[in-house]
Amino acid sequence: MNILLFGKTGQVGWELQRALAPLGNLTALDVHSKEHCGDFSNPEGIAETVRAIKPDVIVNAAAHTAVDKAESEPEFAQLLNATSVESIAKEAAKLGAWVVHYSTDYVFPGEGETPWCETDATAPLNVYGQTKLDGEKALQEYCPKHLIFRTSWVYAGKGNNFAKTMLRLAKERNELSVINDQFGAPTGAELLADCTAHALRVAVVKPDVAGIYHLVAAGTTTWHDYAAFVFDEARAAGIELQLSRLNAVATSAYPTPARRPNNSRLNTAKFEQNFDLQLPQWEQGVKRMLTELFTTVTI
Ligand SMILES: NC(=O)c1ccc[n+]([C@@H]2O[C@H](COP(=O)([O-])OP(=O)(O)OC[C@H]3O[C@@H](n4cnc5c(N)ncnc54)[C@H](OP(=O)(O)O)[C@@H]3O)[C@@H](O)[C@H]2O)c1
Repeated sequence: MNILLFGKTGQVGWELQRALAPLGNLTALDVHSKEHCGDFSNPEGIAETVRAIKPDVIVNAAAHTAVDKAESEPEFAQLLNATSVESIAKEAAKLGAWVVHYSTDYVFPGEGETPWCETDATAPLNVYGQTKLDGEKALQEYCPKHLIFRTSWVYAGKGNNFAKTMLRLAKERNELSVINDQFGAPTGAELLADCTAHALRVAVVKPDVAGIYHLVAAGTTTWHDYAAFVFDEARAAGIELQLSRLNAVATSAYPTPARRPNNSRLNTAKFEQNFDLQLPQWEQGVKRMLTELFTTVTI
């Protein structure tokens, strides 16, 4: 299988380099790649790359993910999250290639408490969500062999993440206030990459699984409870924290340029059924990431 991966240096892209490697011949690109264009601000360059590599499978982990920044640069976000995805979709369709793409719960309006199903009506609250929805639609319209995975609250061991930020603050401060009215499931980039590889293996022999899926770890938490979990794990590992008080606050306490949904819960039944997989509880992946963090030796 000839696989083309875009966005190889992102949280999910980095893990995809590992998870896709045993599936075939992998060409992994990022925005700086020289031999082939991997820059999503250049949709024609992206189309040329697909034509040159002639992949059987394209996995797209590149995106404009700066949710607040997207509010002030909507055209640029649209170029990366929708126009270049349309380019990929059109070229892939000509080749009969599969396209795997990631989207977000931000396509939904975010109210209520019920986990969103794939069939629920979309109504994004912000520019990022709208551009991601436009990317989904382009892929659905132009390339029948697609897998779109809507996910949320993605973290990775590599680079910065919420848990690392909370731990740093908890070492410096006595008191912290964290949002407690947004609900979701922290989902590891590793889990997304591994599920992608499993799903692809099914898709190539069973093309009728093509479609849109919700893919997150099991269970639900809030940012506040997620932070509390991280602090409990840190203390259990013998890490000293300055923090003595963790306050639960509403989203309104931290105004941001982009509106965020309160309900980021996603119903994953369709994914689990079609691909015969069981999604683990969110705590499992977070504990693993924290254990790696606590035991990392800095050279
Ligand atoms: N993170 C989340 O919580 C979350 C939630 C729901 C859905 N998703 C979706 O999941 C997918 C993967 O997200 P992630 O968490 O891995 O995001 P990420 O870590 O921000 O990775 C995005 C990647 O896109 C790259 N990129 C930025 N501008 C580009 C350009 N002009 N051309 C090509 N690549 C460019 C980034 O490169 P640089 O690092 O060099 O800028 C980075 O490698 C995305 O589709 C995202 O929308 C993420």
